[in-house]
Amino acid sequence: MQIKKVGVIGCGLMGHGIVQVAAQGGFQVVAFEADAGALQKGLGRIEGSLSKLAGKNVEKGKMTEDQAAEWVRTTRAQIHGSTDMADLKDCDLVVEAIIENLEIKKSLFGELGQLVKDSAIFASNTSSFPIREMAQASGRPDRFVGLHFFNPVQLMRLVEVVRTDKTQPEVFDAARRFGEACGKTAVACKDTPGFVVNRLLVPYMVQAILMLDRGDASKEDIDAAMQFGCGYPMGPLTLTDYVGLDTTLAILEGWVENYPDEPAFKIPASLREKVRAGKLGRKTGEGYYKWEGDKKQ
Ligand code: CAA
Ligand code: NAD
Repeated sequence: MQIKKVGVIGCGLMGHGIVQVAAQGGFQVVAFEADAGALQKGLGRIEGSLSKLAGKNVEKGKMTEDQAAEWVRTTRAQIHGSTDMADLKDCDLVVEAIIENLEIKKSLFGELGQLVKDSAIFASNTSSFPIREMAQASGRPDRFVGLHFFNPVQLMRLVEVVRTDKTQPEVFDAARRFGEACGKTAVACKDTPGFVVNRLLVPYMVQAILMLDRGDASKEDIDAAMQFGCGYPMGPLTLTDYVGLDTTLAILEGWVENYPDEPAFKIPASLREKVRAGKLGRKTGEGYYKWEGDKKQ
């Protein structure tokens, strides 16, 4: 089972990064977006990130200026942006990275199941939803996995490869090889809520928000505590802004509904309020912190 051409659906925070690392891994990539403006924005981010990485390689002496320019050009040339779903028809693997809404994802996979060649593998980058439900909706549950990348995709070195009871072993192996070819360490996960990372990470973020909501400590002190006390690269409130408050809320709403007896799954009041006010984190310029572009103010 050889993967050569990959479709990525959604070119937002995660999708643009998945497109980029797949292209860096040598795959031909169709970057599909429903919205032409969002597609342009995603492709622009890829270009910015590629030139940043190229500059770093030159600084470190890993590439000459000419090699770096050639690397950017050839990587970018692997990517074809599209708003026409028919362009996904002959992909060997299609990775979905649209908003965290199960009904919308299921309906998308229903459509893809009809459109994309039968031999193709489907994958979802969902943070929290059961892979088996999307697999069922696609009409090809044996050729379906979770491929859960981390934010920012270009820098985080992990991908979780999630199998259901129905995933064929050769499909799982092909998906794992794809993740490794994208430069990631792949870990195998079962189809459980949050897989490995989010099952640990999201309740930790929730506890930090509850601590802030109770007034136990300031957001700056909570973040400094975890950053300097535990050596984490950023504190939990900065991380929530980084992930997106809307995505964090969508994860928790699904879990609270489906696992009401799990005490680790709680929705803090301030998270709901901020999402209602459109304060979604770094991507909208304000969440728990204010942001100027990529930088926290
Ligand atoms: N492409 C290329 N370069 C990038 C980049 C990108 N997308 N993003 C950042 N960089 C560069 C920056 O420009 C910066 O370059 P300079 O040194 O030249 O300025 C460099 O990488 C380091 O970035 P920062 O200065 O912003 O700061 P940092 O040293 O803290 O590193 C980080 C950033 C790698 C994101 C680090 O803070 C980190 O690892 N944070 C934790 C992230 C994390 O936990 N992610 C998982 C989220 S949960 C998830 O993804 C799952 C889910 O389902 C919700
Ligand atoms: P995002 O809102 O930044 O991007 C979603 C993109 O999907 C948008 O550009 C939107 O235009 C596009 N889109 C929506 N419906 C579409 C459709 N039907 N067809 C094509 N494009 C469509 O969201 P995100 O943060 O990139 O999250 C995407 C997925 O990745 C979610 O399932 C999320 O849970 C998961 N995820 C997020 C993170 C994170 O840190 N934000 C980390 C890992 C996984």
